[in-house]
Amino acid sequence: MDYQLDLNWPDFIERYWQKRPVILKHAFKNFVDPISPDELAGLAMESEVDSRLVSHNEGKWQVGHGPFQEYDHLGEHNWSLLVQAVNHWHQPASALMIPFRALPDWRIDDLMVSFSVPGGGVGPHFDQYDVFIIQGLGRRRWRVGEKASLKQHCPHPDLLQVEPFDAIIDEEMEPGDVLYIPPGFPHEGYALENALNYSVGFRAPSSRELISGFADFVLQRELGGLRYSDPQVPKRNHPADILPQEVDALRDMMLSMLNQPETFNHWFGEFISQSRHELDLAPPEPPYQADEIVDALHQGDVLTRAGGLRVLRVANEVYVNGEKLDSPQHQALEALASHLTLNAEHFADALDDPGFLVLLTALVNSGYWYFED
Ligand code: SIN
Ligand code: CO
Repeated sequence: MDYQLDLNWPDFIERYWQKRPVILKHAFKNFVDPISPDELAGLAMESEVDSRLVSHNEGKWQVGHGPFQEYDHLGEHNWSLLVQAVNHWHQPASALMIPFRALPDWRIDDLMVSFSVPGGGVGPHFDQYDVFIIQGLGRRRWRVGEKASLKQHCPHPDLLQVEPFDAIIDEEMEPGDVLYIPPGFPHEGYALENALNYSVGFRAPSSRELISGFADFVLQRELGGLRYSDPQVPKRNHPADILPQEVDALRDMMLSMLNQPETFNHWFGEFISQSRHELDLAPPEPPYQADEIVDALHQGDVLTRAGGLRVLRVANEVYVNGEKLDSPQHQALEALASHLTLNAEHFADALDDPGFLVLLTALVNSGYWYFED
């Protein structure tokens, strides 16, 4: 299924992106759910899949974490089943994320899908990330409040709820409507009837994550062996003092590592191309030989990228799931990064390069790209 999102992106970015929440009515025309509530419930029974059941009764909130064995004990009201990274596990659902590639791939995270019965929701809360919530099946009332330093109060430690808030958006969403919420705006959605919601979530690294990720890279590769030296050690009045120029020199030592573009780009490519959720990889058995892949492509078969696999380009180098692809076939690498499905034409001459074929064969045999049967 091809999902067409009716959205003027330049206008949206100018007015709303990272700034204001907005409801985009009928943004998807004739919306068709890519997944059924039963399929979603089935996914939440699998141990690799990250899921939660949230219910409330007279102001008391409960959260259970999957995998779930059964759902028979649940009533007809006030609960919601939420499944993370559904784009990794369910190919038709992953198609919903494609229109959001108008925004950079590196900022996109995953597709969370929720099924709620009437009254079901996770309560008032805010998130650290941008999210587009698409209404599928059913109707749900969404309220969004002004960004404020709302006190987090904890009726349940897993929910990070906030106190009740005044609404700046209060609408019933219907199938195909989209609600965009930037980080920090409190929101809550209550289903009015059985409802499916699709949250296209974004990610943005914090300084803490960046520093810690860079430090891991430095340690792994044993970089940064240069040691502080002071052949002209300056005099000071108190032996205990560390002089401002010494502090500057130490900081410069650290910054000079960050300022090496090759090191920084290589690290960031590896860092940001890692998925935050488990991938559903099915390495082919038996593994392919390079010539079998070339034959299949020449016969018109198509290679499809595994759902949720991150393929990103930094300074003309392509990174896949935390690894740099080593090949001079830049056009073929760019095709791997740009297209979710690839045919022989995308690879062009690279299919005659034995070095590139070794790389492509390894990628296919890892399950990163696969031929649909
Ligand atoms: C949902 O309930 O589908 C979305 C939860 C959220 O607001 O993050
Ligand atoms: Co939220």
